[in-house]
Amino acid sequence: MKRWRVAAAVTSLLVVPLALGADSAQEGSLPYDRFETGEVCADCHGEITTQHARSLMARSFTHEWDEIEYFELALPHALKVEKVAGVKAGCNGCHAPLAYLAGDIPPQRPSENSRANEGVSCDVCHSITGFAGDVPFNFNYIMEPGETKQGTRPGMESGYHEIAVNEFLASSEFCGICHNEQDPFGMWVKATHLEWRDGPYGQASINCQDCHMPRTDGTLSDDGDPVEGVRRHTFHGVHFPEKLSGAVEVLLYPRDETVATGDALILDATVMNAKAGHMIPSGSVEERVVWLHVEATDSQGQSWHLPVDRKGFAGEDWTIADANAMAYQDIGDIRGLEDFAGLSRDGDVPAGDRIYRMPYLDPQGRMTVAQWNTASFGPDYRLPPLEAIGETFTWQVPTGAAKGEVKVSATAYMTMVVSSVADYMKLPAAEKEAMVMGTTEVTVVVK
Ligand code: HEC
Ligand code: HEC
Ligand code: HEC
Ligand code: HEC
Ligand code: HEC
Repeated sequence: MKRWRVAAAVTSLLVVPLALGADSAQEGSLPYDRFETGEVCADCHGEITTQHARSLMARSFTHEWDEIEYFELALPHALKVEKVAGVKAGCNGCHAPLAYLAGDIPPQRPSENSRANEGVSCDVCHSITGFAGDVPFNFNYIMEPGETKQGTRPGMESGYHEIAVNEFLASSEFCGICHNEQDPFGMWVKATHLEWRDGPYGQASINCQDCHMPRTDGTLSDDGDPVEGVRRHTFHGVHFPEKLSGAVEVLLYPRDETVATGDALILDATVMNAKAGHMIPSGSVEERVVWLHVEATDSQGQSWHLPVDRKGFAGEDWTIADANAMAYQDIGDIRGLEDFAGLSRDGDVPAGDRIYRMPYLDPQGRMTVAQWNTASFGPDYRLPPLEAIGETFTWQVPTGAAKGEVKVSATAYMTMVVSSVADYMKLPAAEKEAMVMGTTEVTVVVK
């Protein structure tokens, strides 16, 4: 008993401060009026304002799924289970930094129009001077709002505000402050910056900004002189089909060019992360589904679905879509639903398709979309940057297949939220739409 107490005390010392952010003393330390609204900045920085407004960071508190997940799952869970109590405030450290810093916890619903709605605003990012500790994560920003705005370009002057040239804003660590997250169980449930750091883009110092804030010539302010390479504030991610398009390159190689009905045709697929500086998927890995779908269509338009061949690694079942597999039972625990059997693990993904995922497992070992309730991970079968994964598909050519050309297509898709959860939580249809990340087609001839 005594021993257990010591162990528990040590664990809580180690885990609690991390789970709440490196410096949870920040909560309530800066009233709302210490920060300027985006409307003030819009007066002089019109173009950047338009770009930022379309990004998800401007909607990090008001976006439907964020509101639903916080108010209908995380907050009730935090009020019920001590272990995850920290997320009541913690979610807001990244999603509604102004409310978190003002100590307005829980913030009001977005419909109340409080300043929580401003999300990750201009003055949030341009008041960050660094981070506390060795690793940027869990909103461990050092926040110094006021007359001085942090920037990276020397030699600029504004009659309205002071400018501090701070190279930190040009670093990926700056983004890692909110794009790395450790949950109350000590799991790295978001590791976009860590994946980047340990991958080829981190090694080459190609930063987050280079892909998510592309440079174009223009002005920094509406009346400013033209300068080279202005950082656009696009921040496009999975909500923008143009960012997903081509992010996964799919190639297909049939081992034979002609086959007879009844024969087995083997096709090798190469699936590559060609465009992202981190894993695909990254960040909200618990809810994204990325999968490969292969289909053959004969000259008369009959088509067949080709399930992926098994490789036989431990935990592989989690990576192959299964119409009968159930998951997300912790939603029932959070909502106090007895006999809640869970929801379909893979939603609308056709059974037999390969899924590129890392399962997030709750304390009972069941897959979860509640990243704060993750006690362990299943196998990491995602697509690392500039690496490919090989798959094979063995197709028993049906006796009914028409002679002539058969086209075999392979397509990589992503949905932002697994469709079963999207339906159950009543999310807008766009959240479960299947978006194409890459596709290919080859032809073989049936003799
Ligand atoms: C009255 C006009 C005005 C307002 C309001 C204004 N700015 Fe500026 N800002 C400027 C001017 C002028 C520059 C210098 C660049 C130029 O000449 O185009 C500038 C430059 C900047 C830079 C670049 C610093 C650098 O050198 O890298 C940042 C960052 C910035 N502003 C942030 C903000 C933020 C955040 C707000 C709102 C809280 C804001 N500004 C409001 C006029 C303004
Ligand atoms: C080489 C270009 C490149 C670099 C470098 C890069 N990204 Fe990305 N990022 C992408 C592309 C392309 C996508 C869309 C495909 C995807 O979802 O992974 C993306 C997607 C994302 C997403 C959504 C991921 C998801 O699955 O929900 C986030 C968040 C993100 N990036 C943040 C970052 C951060 C933070 C960094 C730096 C640590 C970074 N990116 C570095 C290209 C890049
Ligand atoms: C998510 C954080 C973030 C938000 C939100 C944000 N910025 Fe920035 N901004 C940056 C970073 C990082 C840079 C510098 C990037 C670099 O130099 O590599 C930057 C650069 C700038 C610059 C100078 C651009 C240049 O090329 O020198 C201006 C001006 C600016 N921001 C204004 C704004 C305004 C106005 C808003 C709100 C509409 C805003 N920012 C919102 C992170 C942010
Ligand atoms: C203060 C915290 C914070 C900082 C700093 C920050 N982000 Fe974010 N970012 C967020 C949050 C929260 C979201 C999720 C928005 C939502 O609710 O969908 C997000 C979303 C994004 C997305 C959209 C992903 C998608 O789902 O489409 C991209 C891309 C992104 N951030 C890139 C960056 C880059 C690049 C930087 C550094 C220049 C950065 N962020 C810095 C908090 C932050
Ligand atoms: C350390 C910062 C951080 C914390 C803490 C955090 N988030 Fe996030 N959250 C992010 C970032 C960054 C993204 C975007 C990642 C991506 O698109 O891959 C995100 C994405 C999301 C999304 C998905 C939005 C989408 O567009 O699909 C939801 C929902 C969400 N968070 C809810 C929560 C809830 C609820 C909590 C508390 C339990 C929480 N977050 C805690 C940073 C954070």
